[in-house]
Amino acid sequence: MSLKILGTGSYLPPKVVTNDDLAKSLDTSDEWIFSHTGIHARHMAGADDTTSSMAVKAARAAMESAGAQPDEIGLVIVATSTPDYNTFPSTACLVQDALGCKTAGAYDLQAACAGFVYALEQGRGWASLHPGRKVLVIGSETLTRVVDWNDRASCILFGDGAGAVVVGSEPGDPPVPTDGKPAVRCETILGADGSGYSFIAREGGTRVAPAPGQVPIPHLTLQGRPVFNFAVRTMDSVVMKLCLNAGLTPVELDRIFAHQANGRIIEAVARRMDLSLDKFYMNIARTGNTSAASIPVTLDEAVRKGELAEGMRICLVGFGAGLTYAGTLMTWPYL
Ligand code: UT7
Repeated sequence: MSLKILGTGSYLPPKVVTNDDLAKSLDTSDEWIFSHTGIHARHMAGADDTTSSMAVKAARAAMESAGAQPDEIGLVIVATSTPDYNTFPSTACLVQDALGCKTAGAYDLQAACAGFVYALEQGRGWASLHPGRKVLVIGSETLTRVVDWNDRASCILFGDGAGAVVVGSEPGDPPVPTDGKPAVRCETILGADGSGYSFIAREGGTRVAPAPGQVPIPHLTLQGRPVFNFAVRTMDSVVMKLCLNAGLTPVELDRIFAHQANGRIIEAVARRMDLSLDKFYMNIARTGNTSAASIPVTLDEAVRKGELAEGMRICLVGFGAGLTYAGTLMTWPYL
């Protein structure tokens, strides 16, 4: 039995908002946004899109590619910071119901933009305890509904979407292929630095009692510079540590799926690691930062383009509010 990612799927809502569109109502420009972030456009949820509906579309695509039936799914984990409800029921319960996964447990996981890697690690652990059962691991976000559209330093960054994978073990799978290269066992690093909790935040929880009669509609707030620096530092050190533990040098990685927060962050990470930018899958120019959805969306795009072959050594790495960070090194598609 080998534990694997059995299938991938993603969904980006059809509505596209370009930088030029934003510049019509905001003191900004395509030149500024692209030169500071690498973003030209982002997808935005339409009136009928929700975090759960996008998650369902991504999950259906992942289940179809995995050949997985609803009754085979034993657990649904949705990584999200923008759940349909604040804060219960969980988005995962809505997804479980819509997919008809009647025998599955379901819960949300909140580790911001690092959430998908956290969720994948939990899914991997659960699936290894329940051979024969499958786990849906989903990242889905509707960030455009919580940003402050008057704050040009943050709203330009974000987009909406969902990505999903099906994790499970299959009898009779071949062992991890070595292809003349050292076999790499899957390893994950999960980390956090809560001292940076205020750098990316959204009020509206129970921390502050609302004034009588007031219904707060809190926006996301962001201090960009310290987050930028944290991102470069942690993504570099997580990938380096995973490689060190696996007996690899970073140049021996075939592909890196880094959280698409800012193209300049990924360029800085590549420079620090002395790696070609070509190792990093990039779609931020057309998606913006989709938070927990960004890594599974890039993974699904690469799979569907035929860019991932069995036996490739790949790394998933992200960071986010909390502050959190996480990375997984694996031999595709083995967990
Ligand atoms: O998933 C995690 C989520 N968060 C992140 O990843 C954020 C990481 N940080 C970043 O991506 C960058 O820090 C930003 C893109 C948010 C900002 O870029 P920056 O190079 O750090 O710019 P800055 O905040 O230092 O601002 C530089 C200038 C300021 O003007 P002054 O004070 O120098 O006159 C800003 O007011 O750029 C101005 N500015 C803008 N100008 C035009 C900020 N946003 C914009 C804008 N258009 N959209």
